[in-house]
Amino acid sequence: MNIAKAVYFDGEVNAPWAAAEYGENEAPKIRRLLADARISRGLRLLEPGCGTGRLTEILAGAVGPRGRVEALEISPRMVEASRQRVSGRRNVRVHHVALEEYRDRGRGFDRIVCHQVFPHFDDKQEAAMRLAGLLRPDGLVVIVHFINFAAINDVHRKAGTTVEHDLMPPLEEIRRLFRRAGLVIDRFADDALGYILRARPATGAAARR
Ligand SMILES: C[S@@+](CC[C@H](N)C(=O)[O-])C[C@H]1O[C@@H](n2cnc3c(N)ncnc32)[C@H](O)[C@@H]1O
Repeated sequence: MNIAKAVYFDGEVNAPWAAAEYGENEAPKIRRLLADARISRGLRLLEPGCGTGRLTEILAGAVGPRGRVEALEISPRMVEASRQRVSGRRNVRVHHVALEEYRDRGRGFDRIVCHQVFPHFDDKQEAAMRLAGLLRPDGLVVIVHFINFAAINDVHRKAGTTVEHDLMPPLEEIRRLFRRAGLVIDRFADDALGYILRARPATGAAARR
C-alpha cells in the first residue's frame, strides 16, 4: 500500500470534491455511468478507491439486496467515512486494502467501477492485470470520471506533490495496457459528462489483435 498516498487522501476526507453530496450537476453523469456499465439488480460489483462512499451508496442501491458491492480504499479516514455512510446497507463491505493487495474469495466480479481512481494506481500495467484477474469472463470494467480527460490531468498536476504525477494515460496507452491484460475497450467517451471507458475480457479474434 502506498502510505504517502493514503495519508494524502486522509487529509482530503472533508474536502468538497470528496465529501459534498452529489447534486443536479452529477445526476446525468451518474445515469450515464449506470447505463454504460449496465448495472442491474443482483450483480456482484467491485469499487476500488471508494473515497467517502458517495458512489458506493448509489451502486449498492442499484444492485439491490440480492447484489453486492465490495469497496476498497487505502485511506483510513476515507474508509471510516464510507463505512459510516453505508452502515445501513447490508449488501456493501468496505475493505481497508489497496486494489493491488486485494484477494477475492468470491466468484469474480460482474462489474468493476473505478471512479476517479485509475490515475492514482502507481503501476498502471499491474492495475490493469489485477482488474482483469478479478473480472468474470462476462464482466465489464469501467473507468469513469465526472470531468473530462484534460480536466483530470489538470486537477492532478495542480493538486500537490503526492498526486501531481498521477495522470490519466492517453487512450492509446490504456488500450495497450488493457490489451496486455487481456481486456478490450468497447466503449469510450470524453465529453461534457466527463470521461468513461468500458472494457471486457478479450475473446476470440479480439484476444489475438
Ligand atoms: C480521487 S479519490 C476518488 C474517491 C471516490 N471514488 C470519489 O470519486 O469521490 C481516489 C481514492 O482512491 C483511493 N486509492 C488510491 N489508490 C488506491 C489503491 N491502489 N487502491 C485502493 N484505493 C486507492 C484514495 O485513497 C482515494 O480515496
